[in-house]
Amino acid sequence: VGGICTVIQTKAKITVDEWGENYVMIGPYFEHNVKTQVEMFTPQNPAIKKAMDILILNGCQVYFGRWLIEGNPYVLLFDIHSAAWKLDKWKGEFWNACGVGLPSGDRETNDALIFGSLTAWFIEQLTDELQGKKNIIVNFHEWLAGTGLILSRFKKLPIATIFTTHATLLGRYLCAANIDFYNNLDKFNVDKEAGERQIYHRYCIERASVHCAHVFTTVSQITAIEAEHMLKRKADVVTPNGLNVKKFSAMHEFQNLHSMYKARIQEFVRGHFYGHLDFNLEKTLFFFIAGRYEFSNKGVDIFLEALSRLNFLLQVHKNDVTVIVFFIMPAKTNNFNVETLKGQAVRKQLWDTAHTVKEKFGKKLYEALLKGEIPDMSKILDRDDLTIMKRAIYATQRQTLPPVTTHNMSDDSTDPILSNIRRIGLFNNRTDRIKVVLHPEFLSSTSPLLPLDYEEFIRGCHLGVFPSYYEPWGYTPAECTVMGIPSVTTNLSGFGCFMQDHVADPDAYGIYIVDRRFRSLDESCNQLTQFMYRFCQQTRRQRIIQRNRTERLSELLDWRYLGRYYMHARHLGLSRAFPNKFKMEPIAPPRTEGFRYPRPPSVPPSPSVSLHSSPHHSEGEDEDDDDERYDEDEEAEKDRKNIKSPFAPELVLEGERKQHGEYKN
Ligand code: UDP
Ligand code: G6P
Ligand code: GLC
Repeated sequence: VGGICTVIQTKAKITVDEWGENYVMIGPYFEHNVKTQVEMFTPQNPAIKKAMDILILNGCQVYFGRWLIEGNPYVLLFDIHSAAWKLDKWKGEFWNACGVGLPSGDRETNDALIFGSLTAWFIEQLTDELQGKKNIIVNFHEWLAGTGLILSRFKKLPIATIFTTHATLLGRYLCAANIDFYNNLDKFNVDKEAGERQIYHRYCIERASVHCAHVFTTVSQITAIEAEHMLKRKADVVTPNGLNVKKFSAMHEFQNLHSMYKARIQEFVRGHFYGHLDFNLEKTLFFFIAGRYEFSNKGVDIFLEALSRLNFLLQVHKNDVTVIVFFIMPAKTNNFNVETLKGQAVRKQLWDTAHTVKEKFGKKLYEALLKGEIPDMSKILDRDDLTIMKRAIYATQRQTLPPVTTHNMSDDSTDPILSNIRRIGLFNNRTDRIKVVLHPEFLSSTSPLLPLDYEEFIRGCHLGVFPSYYEPWGYTPAECTVMGIPSVTTNLSGFGCFMQDHVADPDAYGIYIVDRRFRSLDESCNQLTQFMYRFCQQTRRQRIIQRNRTERLSELLDWRYLGRYYMHARHLGLSRAFPNKFKMEPIAPPRTEGFRYPRPPSVPPSPSVSLHSSPHHSEGEDEDDDDERYDEDEEAEKDRKNIKSPFAPELVLEGERKQHGEYKN
């Protein structure tokens, strides 16, 4: 779920390009997902088929096919329930292998053990079949897959193993408990902390996986340091997370998409805020936060506090900008609430009324013109028309404020976001310049309320705000970047640190990095408020320029470039597991350190203080100056040529390729 799923899914394409038919993903079988996403068939590879058949003959259900995502990788899926009857036996085997006992009440860990046991069993059969004719590398992701690694090593299977962790269990738990984590990394008694939080067995699986692997990797430098303290092994390779970056042939295409999806969000807003639309939608900005609902780890606490300060700032400075802030974080609900659905129904009714009157008006106008007359405009609408229009307007009166949440929350009174909204008083009053909408469900294009998928929604927004405290990587701001939408991140997130290392002036490129490491909570909150306030002061033209710059950074995040770190981990795995076959000089990991994206040369560094490059413009005049975008497109193209970055995909190190070629067999 969440970002881990994004890693596995987006990395498929480059891995299939590299390994072709030899690349197989292994995972648990979920009927609904398989029915909608997998094309099933019998494997053509006889060794895989034989190994699968042995498990099937022993009563386990195993499936094979192609996952219908970019790259079309093979997938091998184990039905965990079909093997649940073996759980007790496998618990015993696991205890013998590593001395870790699993409590019966922890369903998730028990399922993980069944999955891991099936994986190790399958690999054992496969290695028997292959008899060393082919070498196998297995990359296990996260502690939930780790039991398979521990068992494979216990059985001494001839494979190269990599363990990739996307977080540490203890890190996530300790940060969620609001402990000063980063200043005490070396002081925690890890066994005690894990025991007190009743995750000792899980922690043991994670730590054993890390130590059993030939190669241990994690997704960012900051998590590498954390893992060294929490799991007691230094990561061999840091494998930053990439995305499949799609370039449009027309450079401004992503700007057009922004406009198109912004209009869709505006439609939702017209319904949600009916009766309260006394703010100018042309001067309304859309901010959002999205992801798994981890209140303090994802920085929702500091975000809400900063919004309250921003509301105050915009009010006292009599700013005419309104900001609508969306919180997209799944929580337990009992469906949409009536008031929210009513809002969209009222909007639809107004639309229908306008349409009916327009039709009648048009018909009368047409008939008059046919007679060669210009009709008397004051009489063209009759009493009935006026009545239906008045009724439609009366229907937009409401006694309540526009709702803060779109759904009936199961834990309304204790929900942390709602409780804090109550505390700071952001209730969508007319005087508020900040309006809030909590949408406690991931987005979907089939929603009756906000029919957009997540990507479309991001494109329509102006700023993503992700002020996380615990965030090993953080895909959400990275996804904003490749779509050309500015975002806020922090120097405690893997992504934020990566950008800080590689971009000389991140603000100018629309990457606002909040310092949550060396400042107090209050100072970080003020910094976040300032970032958002400055963003609100930008003109449309400055926003357009900034989006162009943001989008330029996407090549930094492309798997075509970042995939090399996984390649390196695999080489290292082979050389450690099969030192006689794969003698390699101790190869240096791929390096990009030292390269920094320079300040954009063709435009002033900070949009908030920049002056117009064309002298005829003055502030406030620019709300419709879309043509400026094309000048900026030209400038962007010039910059691209000037900045020779080692991130350009065509520069994927030839040497690495060659070296890699030697290992392919
Ligand atoms: N996401 C989604 N739908 C939404 C909101 C978020 O699919 O409505 C995805 C998003 O695309 C991202 C992932 O959830 O890839 C969150 O990943 P991230 O690394 O930011 O955080 P994690 O949940 O892994 O801690
Ligand atoms: C894109 C579109 C422009 C539009 C602009 C709005 O650049 O191509 O036509 O005017 O977005 O930007 P804003 O930041 O005000 O949503
Ligand atoms: C984890 C982390 C997240 C990261 C993702 C993918 O879920 O919480 O920060 O982006 O894994 O590595």
